[in-house]
Amino acid sequence: MVKSHMNRMTGGNGMLYPIIGFALCVAFIYMSFGDLWIDLHGETKLSFVERNGTQFMVDGKPFYINGWNSYWLMDHGVDESSRSRISAMLQAGAKMGLTVCRTWAFNDGGYNALQISPGRFDERVFRSLDNVIAEARKHGIRLILSLVNNLQAYGGKTQYVQWAWEEGVGLSASNDSFFYDPSILGYFKNYVKC
Ligand SMILES: *[C@@H]1O[C@H](CO)[C@@H](O)[C@H](O)[C@H]1NC(C)=O
Ligand SMILES: *[C@@H]1O[C@H](CO)[C@@H](O)[C@H](O)[C@H]1NC(C)=O
Repeated sequence: MVKSHMNRMTGGNGMLYPIIGFALCVAFIYMSFGDLWIDLHGETKLSFVERNGTQFMVDGKPFYINGWNSYWLMDHGVDESSRSRISAMLQAGAKMGLTVCRTWAFNDGGYNALQISPGRFDERVFRSLDNVIAEARKHGIRLILSLVNNLQAYGGKTQYVQWAWEEGVGLSASNDSFFYDPSILGYFKNYVKC
């Protein structure tokens, strides 16, 4: 398809192929490593937090968490109309000298679900999560990304148990079966992998 289209464009002139090929290659590299490019031009670099014994460490130095909980960031970022709240919240946190925010990287089953049903995801919500991560970095905020809820809100444990029950693979209707039912553990491991 692409080739015959280009043939028409170039009238069969072979010289243009290497040029077009090179341009596509540059575009691809730019799109793949655009983030690194920004890094080289002075945006905040945030290393991952590590641990030594009971001490959190960043870049070899002790790190003390001073943060807050805004579980709703990804959810509010899905709709254009409420997206600006994410940046406003992170900016407010940064202004108060906070450096870490705990937020939800899950939303199972319900409204604006990231995981619609086991192993099925909504790309719009993934994009919103990407945006949350990018915004956090812009404001120099590290994130604790929670992957499941012990409570019912945003799905969590209860939703996993219900999925397994509905599909007839659940061993029990008890919410605590999240912790031992092999089918449910499978769902959750699959989610973490994705
Ligand atoms: C971890 O902590 C121990 C005890 O304080 C120290 O001796 C060691 O050098 C530390 N390791 C790193 C990688 O910082
Ligand atoms: C599981 O938890 C939900 C939410 O707290 C509750 O409504 C439901 O009754 C619980 N299921 C069982 C079997 O206890």
